[in-house]
Amino acid sequence: MKIGTEGQTGSLGTESQMREPCPNIERRPRSRRTGIAAREPVAVVTGASSGIGRALALELACRGYQVGLVARRRKALEDLACEIETRGGRAQVAAADVGDRQALHAAIQQIECALGPVDVIVANAGLGTPTRLAPLNVADVEDTFRVNVLGVVYTIEAVLPGMLDRGWGQLVAVSSMASFKGLPGESAYCASKAAVNLYMEGLRIALRNRGIAVTTICPGFVATAITPMDAAAAPFEITALAAARRIARAIEQRKSGLIRFPWPMAMLMALICRLPDSLVAQLVGHDEGRSQPSDAPSR
Ligand SMILES: NC(=O)c1ccc[n+]([C@@H]2O[C@H](COP(=O)([O-])OP(=O)(O)OC[C@H]3O[C@@H](n4cnc5c(N)ncnc54)[C@H](OP(=O)(O)O)[C@@H]3O)[C@@H](O)[C@H]2O)c1
Repeated sequence: MKIGTEGQTGSLGTESQMREPCPNIERRPRSRRTGIAAREPVAVVTGASSGIGRALALELACRGYQVGLVARRRKALEDLACEIETRGGRAQVAAADVGDRQALHAAIQQIECALGPVDVIVANAGLGTPTRLAPLNVADVEDTFRVNVLGVVYTIEAVLPGMLDRGWGQLVAVSSMASFKGLPGESAYCASKAAVNLYMEGLRIALRNRGIAVTTICPGFVATAITPMDAAAAPFEITALAAARRIARAIEQRKSGLIRFPWPMAMLMALICRLPDSLVAQLVGHDEGRSQPSDAPSR
């Protein structure tokens, strides 16, 4: 049995909608999948305080996972944990900045003490500050790489030794469709996500015979706080709930590799990658580099 999200339609995805009352979470042993007798698998989601991470944590709880919740906003995490537990699931909160290596490791250790070894880690926390030209906003670029790239590395570092010992696990990173093309006004974001793709690809090949699946998720536009308010600037946008379901399915199926969705946005991005610069600039509304580069292209 699934709770909460099942049966709801594509218009869902706002946080209030995610809090609709629903049946209880079914507790079911997953010993065949985890190799660990009578233990519900443990999934940790970073960036679980809002958007895709919040929806995914709830979706995984619905699918029988114990969930560890990491982000900086403790109150939002506690509210989510409360919601999961009210429905009969199990959640553990550990607030941390993913760019703070020590704090993040302590947080994940705290979750493992409470729930058990991590079977699935989802490095989802991320930010999308626009890249400006005059002056170049270098501090923002540093922050983007600290959170979007090093945050993924530190998150994986915290669980990989245990997974290697057990010969079991799944590493998931939430990248973006924007990782396939350097977009005007989004240079740092695109570059950070491209770095994630290649980092995960290398890990995937290195870990191919070690029992650890490595999954890179590349969503198109998802309706969350990170996306532009203007719907026209976000073609083929999907809800956080729809994105969470796609990711949860990839986790349940232990899919290794790069997963991109929705398919119309993947096609559009493949086309954009082949266009000349002038057309790309027109398409994302970036007028010869003169306009404010915060004009929202693809995430
Ligand atoms: N929305 C889209 O269109 C889209 C498309 C493709 C990919 N993505 C990716 O999806 C991921 C989730 O984004 P979202 O769309 O769900 O946006 P969101 O609602 O803004 O969520 C971002 C999450 O990351 C957390 N976070 C940010 N900086 C952090 C830090 N330094 N330490 C710990 N947690 C941090 C935030 O929590 P706190 O503020 O509480 O720390 C929040 O929970 C990101 O990696 C984003 O790049 C989004």
